[in-house]
Amino acid sequence: MSSFKLSSVTAAALAAVLASPALAQPNPSLLNNKQAFIADLMRQMTLEEKVGQLRLISIGPEMPAPQLAREVAAGKVGGTFNSVNRKEQRPLQEAAVKQSRMRIPMFFAYDVVHGHRTSFPIGLGLASSWDMDSVRRVARISAIEAAADGIDITWSPTVDIARDPRWGRSSEGFGEDPYLVSQLARAMVTGFQNGSPAKADSIMSSVKHFALYGAVEGGRDYNVVDMSPMRMYNDYLPPYKAAIDAGAGGVMIALNTVNGVPASANKWLLQDLLRKQWGFKGLTVSDHGAITELMRHGVARDEKEAARLAIEAGVDMSMADQVYTAELPGLVRSGQVKQRDVDNAVREVLGAKYDMGLFHDPFLRIGKAEDDPVDPKADSRLHRAPAREVARNGLVLLENRNKTLPLKKGATIALVGPLADAQVDMMGVWSGQAVTAQTVTLRQGMGNALSGQSGKLLYARGANVTNDPALVEYLNFLNWDSPEVTQDRRSPQAMIDEAVATARQADVVVAAVGEARGMSHESSSRTRLDLPESQQALLKALKATGKPLVLVLLNGRPLALNWERENADAMLETWFAGTEGGNAIADALFGDANPSGKLPVSLPRSVGQVPTYYNYPRIGRPFTPGKPGNYTSQYFDEPQGALYPFGYGLSYTEFQLGELTLSNRSMPRGGKVEASITVTNTGDRAGETVVQLYIQDLAASVVRPVKELKDFQKVMLKPGEKKTLRFDVTEDKLKFYNARLEYGAEAGDFNVQVGLDSQTVKEAVFELK
Ligand code: NOJ
Repeated sequence: MSSFKLSSVTAAALAAVLASPALAQPNPSLLNNKQAFIADLMRQMTLEEKVGQLRLISIGPEMPAPQLAREVAAGKVGGTFNSVNRKEQRPLQEAAVKQSRMRIPMFFAYDVVHGHRTSFPIGLGLASSWDMDSVRRVARISAIEAAADGIDITWSPTVDIARDPRWGRSSEGFGEDPYLVSQLARAMVTGFQNGSPAKADSIMSSVKHFALYGAVEGGRDYNVVDMSPMRMYNDYLPPYKAAIDAGAGGVMIALNTVNGVPASANKWLLQDLLRKQWGFKGLTVSDHGAITELMRHGVARDEKEAARLAIEAGVDMSMADQVYTAELPGLVRSGQVKQRDVDNAVREVLGAKYDMGLFHDPFLRIGKAEDDPVDPKADSRLHRAPAREVARNGLVLLENRNKTLPLKKGATIALVGPLADAQVDMMGVWSGQAVTAQTVTLRQGMGNALSGQSGKLLYARGANVTNDPALVEYLNFLNWDSPEVTQDRRSPQAMIDEAVATARQADVVVAAVGEARGMSHESSSRTRLDLPESQQALLKALKATGKPLVLVLLNGRPLALNWERENADAMLETWFAGTEGGNAIADALFGDANPSGKLPVSLPRSVGQVPTYYNYPRIGRPFTPGKPGNYTSQYFDEPQGALYPFGYGLSYTEFQLGELTLSNRSMPRGGKVEASITVTNTGDRAGETVVQLYIQDLAASVVRPVKELKDFQKVMLKPGEKKTLRFDVTEDKLKFYNARLEYGAEAGDFNVQVGLDSQTVKEAVFELK
């Protein structure tokens, strides 16, 4: 991956580390030749030491620190994850490079998913910005913060296409669309690695969950995945490939099956596809306990077989299970597993460490004790200004009737709802080392915005997130340290009465409603997509006051918002917006920022309609609006289509698209057609919008989607300003995998569609010759 020159400083550090001649030694003279260096190390390693490198341990209750240090010194650990403290990592690294016979450095991993010390918006929030520079910056800052805590590699980004919002991990990923998620995958990897994961302030990126994790049946986490190869190749695989092409050094293997074979034992997936077809040259790691789980999947009868299946399939490192350590040495000695399979895995682990710069300087990111931060949690270590900017960027304005928003700073505002002052929820799940107390709630943010103004902020909680004790117990069980969901013990009616009384004193009501963060998390699948009943009751009572009602939604999955759409005067989707969420949302509510986010997912009308995604394949009997519906594909008890389409999002200003023109009505092979369209800001405020280009293949050898996103541009326009945007439609944008999984563009007509969302578009047709 990267090449190095041995500086005199690192050479001296290495020489010091190699002081004792009794030990085997990495050969410094080979250090600038990755292959030779690793081959030389492997030549000296025992089988047990090799297997030790394949072991990835979660720091925590699973293994107390003193025992871990002994295991490291014995050469039985390759890396750990979940330690985020240089003080904690330093002795482990010392044990590795000073005490273990081979002196191979450890690596330290962590789930740096949407920030590290600073929490940025969750994946869906980042994706809603459609702003790749901003997302790259999020990953860059996350890497800088994580590297400063001695972290070498992140289990991120999550690029699983998710089209079933029942899946709680929808929150982590970037939505339903292969093209948009691929762009985001690239931006994240580039931001984390910054040209080379060997830089002191870069971290290696390990993309996950390979593969198809977002397609678990019924949206139930860990469930099976069964999918046609064509759909896989066209829709679900491109984002992983994009991350790998951007240089991701690692791949985390999914917990699910892929067409009958668990990903962790899937040779086709890990070898034929990943290594041979895609040319991946990095490290694969299992997900937590996944090798042991091969027994529960029912493909391995015992631990021996589980270890054999995984190593033969190409799982290099085993995360948090003992199966490799316990079984591989015996399996190799008895000839049941080939030495070559173990060696291949070890080579990747050592290669990744090499690429992270750890052989050149094992303390590259841990640094010296005297430089350790006095208080790792100090506010000065946060990046608040970019967090606020990025969070503003991802807010999606769903409704704004009668210009209810922006709010006036002279108004009396009743802020209600269980999420109005909920610090922990604002961070979203997988919030890294973000500190709850450093997170700005909406109540705080609105308070900040009104300070020194004549307006007043009244507050009443109004409802608990849910009144269901079983759900509360579940959500609190998910959290080890302290219960996250705290219930107000007043009766639901007493809380609503207070909120209504507060609303009556106000000019406008802002209700912060949605999900507790744990509701959109690993293993948190839901059968319902509406707001919990406690919150629905609150909203109905608020509506009855007749005051203008603004909904601020905090949630981690697409929700079905039918009543809310009918009854709210304004609605802002904020997902979970991170450390500076409250300030960023207040910026938008008061008009200091103009919302420009666009949905990276379709919002469904109901669970029954799921999966609801915009780029669905054509069928023989499509529903046609305005025509009798009999014998066409529809649900007869509900309107058709998404409640809010993919790509949708309003602004405080208005944008209009002119006609779509194509430079040519035909395209030769290898040529291009330029699509141009003028977008005008016809409103009275400056604002940004995203102009989206979709393409439909009108007739092909296989059924193709009704449209597919192929390009977009985010533009800022002053009031009255117009810009003509040009998009290059190249042959590449017309390519797809056919029934034989051949990738190419087929001659014929293509319909180009350009819109400010996926539904309302201008169209023009050209022919590929
Ligand atoms: C399990 C999750 O599935 C995965 O995303 C995460 O990276 C690992 N645990 C480690 O925390």
